[in-house]
Amino acid sequence: GTDSLLRVTPSMLKEHRTRDDAWSSFSGKVYNITPYLPYHPGGEKELMRVAGRDGTKLFALTHAWVNIDYMLDECLVGFMVSESAS
Ligand code: HEM
Repeated sequence: GTDSLLRVTPSMLKEHRTRDDAWSSFSGKVYNITPYLPYHPGGEKELMRVAGRDGTKLFALTHAWVNIDYMLDECLVGFMVSESAS
């Protein structure tokens, strides 16, 4: 829940890049995308391209109109911070 949000460094993000444990960041917000994978209209494969990394650019290129904050609110993990700030 929102009471336990994490400060996520790029190296932490990179550790979560498998189908069963996939995180991705969008505009500084980090989401656990694993529960959403089966529901993504663009398919699991497309969404897995951003697992463990920043998905902001690919997200904006494919569907800037989609409200990710609203859709994945329950999957919010935390916020990106710089490597030394953890
Ligand atoms: C379609 C959500 C990430 C590629 C869609 C649609 C939604 C959605 C709601 C349907 C949009 C519409 O029909 O207007 C999300 C969410 C994402 C995400 C919540 C982040 C967690 C991505 C990423 C990519 C991607 C990172 C590319 C690497 C696509 C493509 C479609 C699509 C290609 C079009 C599928 C089609 O119409 O055949 N996504 N998406 N999505 N998404 Fe995503």
